[in-house]
Amino acid sequence: MIEIKNITKSFGALQVLKGIDLTIDKNEVVSIVGPSGSGKTTLLQILGTLDKPDSGSIVINGQRISGLKDKELARFRNQEIGFIFQFHQLLPEFTALENVMMPALIGGMSKPEAQDKALDLITMLGLSDRAEHKPNELSGGEKQRIAVARALVNDPAVVLADEPSGSLDTQNKEDLHQLFFDLRDRLGQTFVIVTHDEKLAELTDRTIHLVDGQLKDR
Ligand SMILES: Nc1ncnc2c1ncn2[C@@H]1O[C@H](COP(=O)(O)OP(=O)(O)OP(=O)(O)O)[C@@H](O)[C@H]1O
Ligand SMILES: [Mg+2]
Repeated sequence: MIEIKNITKSFGALQVLKGIDLTIDKNEVVSIVGPSGSGKTTLLQILGTLDKPDSGSIVINGQRISGLKDKELARFRNQEIGFIFQFHQLLPEFTALENVMMPALIGGMSKPEAQDKALDLITMLGLSDRAEHKPNELSGGEKQRIAVARALVNDPAVVLADEPSGSLDTQNKEDLHQLFFDLRDRLGQTFVIVTHDEKLAELTDRTIHLVDGQLKDR
């Protein structure tokens, strides 16, 4: 359902990705590991259509990304890609509920429908009594779970997470990791997770090693 073929990317003289081929199936939880500076975030951004490769092709859910114009691409990203970052990146002036509703409203969902959908997710993640709180009134683990709900609100084809537990303590880390697998089981969600956490990488269906701009089996 995600097919990446021969992706290359350079920044000036630095070739970061040197021909990446990767297929990810629906329902898979895949981790990407590799040394700092090896291009993990670059690959994830390209996969998330936030950055463009120099060459190669990406097909997500049957849609060839390079064929899309800017507006279509923004629409595709809103509908099909969920993002979770190391730092939650919730909007501080909005409540947890409003933050989760945001991508749905941007995608054209009606307000009541977006609210129902967002509340369902927030409840599923055990935060229904926090829905009206602003991000600065939430703990680190709670903020990250709200960010997960936001990533899921449009039922994306894939959720991309870049060091999602990097800012959490051990307990919150483990809870968040467990949540990814629960969501895969309950919603059939596909995840691609960049991580430095060996425990998380071990739990995933497949670990992809990015070394010297290429994917290695080990
Ligand atoms: N916009 C940019 N302009 C120039 N160089 C960049 C840019 N983005 C990334 N790089 C360089 O590309 C290389 C890969 O960066 P990237 O952020 O993908 O690494 P990473 O594997 O995610 O590292 P980390 O584990 O530290 O997050 C690094 O050498 C980085 O300095
Ligand atoms: Mg990175």
